[in-house]
Amino acid sequence: MNQISPMDHFSAHDGGIEMRVGMSPFKMRHDLAGNPLFSLEAMADLASELPRDKVDYNLANLPVDVSGKHVPFNGMSAANTIKEIETCGSWIVLKGMEHVPAYNVLLDELIDELAHLSGVSTSAFDNRVALGFVTSPGGVTPYHLDSEHNFLLQMSGKKTITILPHQATTTAEDTEISPAKSRYIQYQPGFAPLEQTFELSAGDAVCVPFNDPHYVKNGDAVSVSMGITFHDLETWQRRKVATVNHMLRRIGLPQERAGTQHGKDQMKAAAYDALNTVVDPIRNNKKARQFVKRHVLRGAAATP
Ligand SMILES: [Fe+2]
Repeated sequence: MNQISPMDHFSAHDGGIEMRVGMSPFKMRHDLAGNPLFSLEAMADLASELPRDKVDYNLANLPVDVSGKHVPFNGMSAANTIKEIETCGSWIVLKGMEHVPAYNVLLDELIDELAHLSGVSTSAFDNRVALGFVTSPGGVTPYHLDSEHNFLLQMSGKKTITILPHQATTTAEDTEISPAKSRYIQYQPGFAPLEQTFELSAGDAVCVPFNDPHYVKNGDAVSVSMGITFHDLETWQRRKVATVNHMLRRIGLPQERAGTQHGKDQMKAAAYDALNTVVDPIRNNKKARQFVKRHVLRGAAATP
């Protein structure tokens, strides 16, 4: 990451740019619509190049609530899913795009700019990840939450994203993290009055705050979007605590949600760091990752 002045990719959607990262959803504009890095051809090439465990896809004719249900596979290769996305009724996410230099440069430009607009050092927004989403007409990304600061940039097509405030609408368990735990959570119609809905066309972007649950409905054309995610110190600690909390729940010791018990959270984060010295070599090795996914996490649902 560099410390030079960032390029201007973002502009205000209406009025002045107000950066409220982590506080509430808001819409912006970006200048990347039509960028060849996000053509269907580029996305299909990328789907062929990425390791299989960096690509998730499924049929997209889904209800908003798929909690506890199997999400059906489309029976196709990842590259063919994108080549036939107009008609195959699917949704695909390409993860780890930041490992490809052209996308990594762009990711850093975008997040450096968000840091600049937020009045913090570029190094304050770390653990940066770039995701590519390609969706068939009418596809649905069911109700779920993500444990990162998250901006969604619409490149082509249209989609509608509906976002709810996490403190009011999620349980402690919903916010916990495990590779074996689906991010899909139960949609409760009673929270509908708290929904905020954003229509996204090419050139629009929306901030999805850390842990705010949301669902996405695609328009009547193929959609390509880029997700950029990152952490600040607080959300990185909450992510660690949420992971430890899920382990404790699994052994019958349910915890308050991360961020509510400062002293305990610090101890849990330290425990996470100690455990990570063992887990990191596995996470960073492709064969070891595949072994764990196949034999330890078998049956885990795909994450959006
Ligand atoms: Fe999401």
